[in-house]
Amino acid sequence: MRVLGIETSCDETGVAVYDAHRGLLAHRLHSQVALHAPYGGIVPELASRDHIRRLTPLIHATLDDAGLTLSQLDGIAYTAGPGLIGALLVGASVGHSLAWSLGRPVVAVHHLEGHLLAPLLESPALTPPFLALLISGGHTLLVEVRELGRYRILGESIDDAVGEAFDKVAKMLGLGYPGGPALEKLARAGDPARFRFPRPMTERPGLDFSFSGLKTCVMNTLAKTAATDQDKADIARAFQEAVADTLAIKCRRALRQTGLKTLVAAGGVCANQTIRQRLQTVAETEGARLFLPRPEFCTDNGAMIAFAGCLRLQAGQREGLAIQARARWSL
Ligand code: KG4
Ligand code: ZN
Repeated sequence: MRVLGIETSCDETGVAVYDAHRGLLAHRLHSQVALHAPYGGIVPELASRDHIRRLTPLIHATLDDAGLTLSQLDGIAYTAGPGLIGALLVGASVGHSLAWSLGRPVVAVHHLEGHLLAPLLESPALTPPFLALLISGGHTLLVEVRELGRYRILGESIDDAVGEAFDKVAKMLGLGYPGGPALEKLARAGDPARFRFPRPMTERPGLDFSFSGLKTCVMNTLAKTAATDQDKADIARAFQEAVADTLAIKCRRALRQTGLKTLVAAGGVCANQTIRQRLQTVAETEGARLFLPRPEFCTDNGAMIAFAGCLRLQAGQREGLAIQARARWSL
């Protein structure tokens, strides 16, 4: 079975073809980062319009890469949510139209399921059950993945998502959008011993997270310094250390509570090297295996949607004619 995957939930247009036997045949991504950068954040209307412009050419280019024509596809999968509603509607409309015109089945994929299953794209040895840490711009979740479609949320952020906190702190430090990568770069020049920020919600039991208090710490600390480049780098470092430690503490706790011996991390924030290393240490000390997708599969992409869609189509799931798009949709 060959499935075309379409991702348009936010600011990346992603397209991929996944073959159930041969794996990922091709994938392409168009990032809107440059489009939104002058506004310091994502402008939803611009995102929708850009997806409209980019999606069809991207589908053709991806099929060319795979050496396939539209008629050689066996199914279509698209991200149906959660995300920006206008952006989602673009992928959903194109997905349904293509499927209808080709007479092929179409399936709506949950964006977070895509992220959760992304590590399986490259690691055939990885099978559920496993513990997944999902850290992106919109979500911070610890999930027990029992099998395809059976997920138990163990913990989540009660306020900001990790990526959102990175982006907001980066803004305070005068860094551009998106803030995560810029903050990581700045933190490399920071002195880890100068400031220490709290590790929120690690003192009490439970697996939920909170990151908004860290923002306040950054703001207060910044106000007390001269805000030189070195001050900012030291603050960025302290913030990143606090986040990485917090994630590591909760992952260790979740591994112990569930008895699971496989940890999978996904979502855009997994591109962060300090966080990757800290999770590696947790896995080593807990005798667990760690699966981290390569950075291009950590952030939004079409490959994870094609893959998750292929599994769902193989399981017999299909949509009717009605387009599915939900800005909010719990896992
Ligand atoms: O998964 P993703 O591409 O999009 C969704 O939110 O679904 O994640 C984007 C988030 C942004 O908040 C971005 O700042 C953050 O991931 N991010 C990073 C890094 N690269 C991306 N955060 C910290 N360090 C990074 N290197
Ligand atoms: Zn995402």
